[in-house]
Amino acid sequence: MSKLDHRDVELIESAKEIIQARYREGWHHVGAAVRTKSGKIYAAVNLEAYIGRVAVCAEAIALGKAISEGEDEFDTIVAVLSDGQGDARLVSPCGICRELISDYGKEVHVLLPDDTKPARKIGIMELLPQKYQRE
Ligand code: THU
Repeated sequence: MSKLDHRDVELIESAKEIIQARYREGWHHVGAAVRTKSGKIYAAVNLEAYIGRVAVCAEAIALGKAISEGEDEFDTIVAVLSDGQGDARLVSPCGICRELISDYGKEVHVLLPDDTKPARKIGIMELLPQKYQRE
């Protein structure tokens, strides 16, 4: 487990800010923020869809936003779930996001919910033991 620092707290704030700004009941309720190794933050919301399986996670969109802006080295990612009342809590990334995050950096840190502090910070590979490998 790695130590949280003020930049991680700022990353959580960015995820909360974007879902507070873009929350729409039934459509956008998760915010994610990724920090690049160079220190830039990209934030995004999930895309819910009429056909549930079409939905796209906020983490994927945050990564895509960063990559589209020319970034390809990631340090830390976090996702938060809005309560629809202006507050949001950290959530653990889903299995698909774990795969995706690890594809874009085996060393990426993930901020997870914790009972005693603002977040727990662990490496993505700890969340995806025995990841599928083709060769
Ligand atoms: N969702 C995310 O944005 N990130 C996750 O890690 C898990 C789930 C979104 C996808 C979908 O729109 C909705 O939450 C399902 O609850």
